[in-house]
Amino acid sequence: MQAIIFNKVIYTIGGRNILNHVTQQVKVGERIGLIGSNGSGKTTLARLLTGNLQPDDGKLIVTGRVSYVPQLNQIDHEKSDGEQMMMRINEALVRQPDILILDEPTSNLDMQHQNWLIRRLNHFYGTLIIISHDTYLLNKTSQSIWAISDTKLISYSGNYDDYLYQKNMRFSTQTHKYNNAVTQRKHLKRAIDEVQRREKQVTKRPKNISPSDARLISGKGKALKSQKKLAQNVKSMTKRLSNLEQIDKPLVDKSLKLQAIVEQNSKPKTMLKVLNEQVTRNGRLLIKNVNFNLETGQRLAILGPNGTGKTTLIKQILVNNHDSYGYFTQNLATLIGSKTIIENVLPYSSQTSQVARDFLGAFGLKRDKVFQPVDTLSGGEKVKVLLLQVLLTDTRLLVLDEPTNFLDLSAIDALANFLLQYEGAVLFVSHYRDFVTRVATKKMMIKDETLIQV
Ligand SMILES: Nc1ncnc2c1ncn2[C@@H]1O[C@H](COP(=O)(O)OP(=O)(O)OP(=O)(O)O)[C@@H](O)[C@H]1O
Ligand SMILES: [Mg+2]
Repeated sequence: MQAIIFNKVIYTIGGRNILNHVTQQVKVGERIGLIGSNGSGKTTLARLLTGNLQPDDGKLIVTGRVSYVPQLNQIDHEKSDGEQMMMRINEALVRQPDILILDEPTSNLDMQHQNWLIRRLNHFYGTLIIISHDTYLLNKTSQSIWAISDTKLISYSGNYDDYLYQKNMRFSTQTHKYNNAVTQRKHLKRAIDEVQRREKQVTKRPKNISPSDARLISGKGKALKSQKKLAQNVKSMTKRLSNLEQIDKPLVDKSLKLQAIVEQNSKPKTMLKVLNEQVTRNGRLLIKNVNFNLETGQRLAILGPNGTGKTTLIKQILVNNHDSYGYFTQNLATLIGSKTIIENVLPYSSQTSQVARDFLGAFGLKRDKVFQPVDTLSGGEKVKVLLLQVLLTDTRLLVLDEPTNFLDLSAIDALANFLLQYEGAVLFVSHYRDFVTRVATKKMMIKDETLIQV
């Protein structure tokens, strides 16, 4: 039995096609991982399933009760983001829905909570759709992957690793087919040119022979006959050429590059000095005796489970810091919703608008997109704008609290590349292991209310 049937579903926003002719089915109890870059339409698809949005065309049938846990990006000051997400997932599971849709559930969860979620989902017997950029989660939970790209939805069987394998296979088969078609086309075109050249020559009189002699030598009938034959050849080859299958050139995912913009002098400088700091929240001691220095060229990752005080620690350090710094936190309140992307970024930038646009472009916010009001952006697109406000600030200290949440994989890559080239100091918090491994020069962890080097 089918839980969900998409039949040629079309959805458009502001004249732009988001989903185009989506046709897919989901069996009851199936587990799907929904992936795609920021702004590709994942949340839109979820909102179509909840009935919150209606297709512009085509048919969508959903059978059963749907529970949707939306993408979280507002800050509730009482609970950490991870704690809020856990609460919402629990509430949704308690309702025992037939179809459960989770939109980026692990963005703020530490390892322990991620594993809790995976175990919990493996005991959920309804139909499951998980929207995520978290490849670990997708590998542990999905039976098939739906990839949205360029308004199309393609389904792959298996988990994320299987998807990657199939995608690579599909890419090499397509490249092979494309290259073959190009060679075949080239050969046919050359053959047609050659026959056409010979066709002209048959009727052409050699220069040193008079017209009457030429007629005597060749005989008009014979020339006409072979000319006709050659013309027939050209016709059949042209037909073959036009019948050749049109094969699209496979798209190559472009890797993004970002140049560090801050000019630094080469002498290292201590940007942060923390000495015997006690971190407290509402009078409760969270971390005792925090001690560390941070110099330019260093990138320090602060690790630790949800609720141990990472964000509080950072905020407290910054209050006591008098130098300038760039501070990123997932607080969308600092964005001006009615203004465009570029209007939100430029006031923070000491760079030319071209540099700002290059940066936005490196994060996938390209061309006319930069003139879109921030209110209408997807979750990940908003996070990119916030992040770029900080990266474009002229400073030698960047403090980033969970910068990779909600970002697609190529944006995370762009951010990592930027930080690796950045000559200032970076203090950051992240649950994303691969990102920490790639970026950090130094790691410290909060354990038993103490910050220790690991
Ligand atoms: N009013 C609007 N005008 C123009 N574009 C819009 C409008 N509303 C939404 N969009 C665009 O629709 C696209 C799809 O948004 P959606 O939230 O579905 O993306 P997503 O795949 O969930 O992205 P993310 O990974 O960032 O959460 C985005 O590019 C967004 O900018
Ligand atoms: Mg989304």
